[in-house]
Amino acid sequence: MKVRVLSGVQPTGNLHIGNYLGALKNWVKIQYDYESIFCIVDLHAITVYQNPQELRSNIHQLAALFLACGIDPKHSSIIAQSSVPGHAELAWMFTCVTPLGWLERMTQFKAKSEAQETIGDGLLQYPVLMAADILLYQAKIVPVGDDQRQHLELTRDIAQRFNSQYGETFVLPETKLPLVGARVMGLDDPTTKMSKSATGAGHAVALLDPPAVIRKKIMRATTDSQPGVNFESKGAGVENLLNIHQAFTEWTDDQMRAHFEGMRYGDLKKTVAEAVVDGLMPIQQRYQEITADPSIITAVLKEGALRVIPIAQATVELTKQRMGLYSLV
Ligand code: TYM
Repeated sequence: MKVRVLSGVQPTGNLHIGNYLGALKNWVKIQYDYESIFCIVDLHAITVYQNPQELRSNIHQLAALFLACGIDPKHSSIIAQSSVPGHAELAWMFTCVTPLGWLERMTQFKAKSEAQETIGDGLLQYPVLMAADILLYQAKIVPVGDDQRQHLELTRDIAQRFNSQYGETFVLPETKLPLVGARVMGLDDPTTKMSKSATGAGHAVALLDPPAVIRKKIMRATTDSQPGVNFESKGAGVENLLNIHQAFTEWTDDQMRAHFEGMRYGDLKKTVAEAVVDGLMPIQQRYQEITADPSIITAVLKEGALRVIPIAQATVELTKQRMGLYSLV
């Protein structure tokens, strides 16, 4: 049996090059080495209020983007999390083995809850549901960006705690970060992570931004007061632009240095912008083709769910058995 991989993206807002370089590009690369499941985590999205029509359309848009980036639905299962009941079922069982203190310490919970007037219980339980996503399929490898590292550690802790209370049940998953692009920073402020929820117009390049918009955003990116690229002392903005370039082109460190050392920032930005435009163009073209026929997406989401539901059900049954819960099978 092939080792299983699972990862997920929230269907909230526009996917940006941080999501692509931190996660999706890596998924496409490794998908055939594993049995792969890629999840549109709509149950995570509703931890903050979502307009129902927008959420439904974001789910379809995200599935189309997965395909456009190169996920092969014949091999990999693309699922909407809420279409597989096991995610929520297992999450409840994990809620009951997770100490509250573990959840209150999560940095993403702290950051998100500071921004809300009232905090829904779901926001606190968010990482428990994420542990359920992964452990439901006994996934060994979880390809994500750097910001998910703490959630993955918690997933391992939950699995370990369950195993020690109820007997060996869950595989402990490993985090797989990309070599370059694990943490893409905001173009307007390279000290903060590029994020879907940031509001600044020049903050993020969206995967579906037209070439002119991509160029404009990158030409306006924050750099520093040095005249050109100096590999010995790079400011955060220049480092971010170089990382973006390297992650798109997959150039070696030597190639990067040979090409960019001493280059003036205006030329650096032009070169980076062209690499991003070239990298996104085929994705945008495929996206247009795929969305021309909406039945493609509904079929892919159905096929994916039907393929994984038996795996999910088997884990839920095993977990219930271990805990002494009741089952009709
Ligand atoms: P989400 O939707 O915030 O992000 C999706 C993926 O994109 C990565 N990412 C980045 N990588 C590099 N630079 C950035 N600036 C950047 N911003 C985001 C994220 O690390 C992620 O890999 N909690 C998850 C979704 C989730 C999940 C899971 C992931 C739910 N269940 C199970 C893995 C396994 C999240 O909010 O991702």
